[in-house]
Amino acid sequence: MFPFAPPTMLAPMEGVSHPTFRRLIAERGGVGVVCTEFVRVSRAPLSPVALRREVVKVPGVPLSVQVMGNDAEKMADAAHHVADAGADVVDINLGCPMPRVVKKGVGAAMLKDPALLARVLGAMRERTPGLLSAKIRAGFDDAENVVRIAKTVEAAGVDFLVVHPRTRRDLYEGVADWRIVRVLKEALAIPVVGNGDVWYAADALRMERETGCDAVMIGRPAMRNPWIFEQVAALRAGEAPFDPSGADLAEWLHRVRAVYEEEIGGNVPGKLKELLRWMGRAVDDGGAFRQAALRAPDADAILGEVDARLRPLGPEALDLDAHGRHRFERSGAAEGSGSRSGSVGGSAPAPRVA
Ligand SMILES: Cc1cc2nc3c(=O)[nH]c(=O)nc-3n(C[C@H](O)[C@H](O)[C@H](O)COP(=O)(O)O)c2cc1C
Repeated sequence: MFPFAPPTMLAPMEGVSHPTFRRLIAERGGVGVVCTEFVRVSRAPLSPVALRREVVKVPGVPLSVQVMGNDAEKMADAAHHVADAGADVVDINLGCPMPRVVKKGVGAAMLKDPALLARVLGAMRERTPGLLSAKIRAGFDDAENVVRIAKTVEAAGVDFLVVHPRTRRDLYEGVADWRIVRVLKEALAIPVVGNGDVWYAADALRMERETGCDAVMIGRPAMRNPWIFEQVAALRAGEAPFDPSGADLAEWLHRVRAVYEEEIGGNVPGKLKELLRWMGRAVDDGGAFRQAALRAPDADAILGEVDARLRPLGPEALDLDAHGRHRFERSGAAEGSGSRSGSVGGSAPAPRVA
């Protein structure tokens, strides 16, 4: 059993899922757990004070704090400090594909070394009295060892596993292969959380149905559609999900700007653009709104584009409804995929896993 309800997680996203974003998404409801960005634990370890500072909770919403590193003792120390400071889950990053990360032998690079994995996770387990989880990709270069990797993680005493079923080599290309989620669900006794390309609320329930996963993690789609978690909750409850209009998005973005300026400061235009890179993809205008917003020089100009081009649009002009009626985005390569491109689905070759 997944230990939280509802069985949904806001994904860890570096530069995005800071405490303010976590709150803005979770306050809409429907989010079971929010995750921090990764906290790098390197040879010169973070002080206990710095680690404890990462534990910023949204009232009433469990928090998973993600750590990344390959030094067993320092990772165990870090796990101990964040758990002690109130993290509901300590998660280890075993999926980050960025060259600057894998070059250091951490993130997805650890998928290549089961002995190291067992050592680091074993040490973390000993010092983590509460829940411990691991977030993996399907593999480093290919998915052939994904079951072996997942079983190594399970044997170390991890409480649940999150899988983003792309390899490190895939980066974000192609479509997340949900069939790998199903393979792991069948192979493991611990709960399995599926992640990747859940662009529409209905896809979260489809992922659960098709893979048997115990919970669903959502990342980029929450930047694209901040209502997605409450839409999932509505579908689960048999209620009509809310379909946001351009005015709803505009109001939300104005609020984001105000709260970011007050609580975070720094490069607020850059942070707005990170959201608009994804949200802009829900507008069927050949990319005009997205490009204009991303070219705007400052927050006033960005929101000027939002008010001029996004605000007037009704829900029917946006690809944000819970069922993906327009379905610009491709999601999971399990059978019955509703991809409008038709390039994924039941006819795709089965994933090669040992
Ligand atoms: C901007 C960005 C930052 C990310 N940072 C992290 C991170 O710190 N830790 C992590 O495990 N995954 C990170 N990811 C990966 C996501 O957690 C997630 O696995 C991936 O985006 C696929 O899920 P999605 O299709 O729901 O976005 C990041 C993804 C993005 C787009």
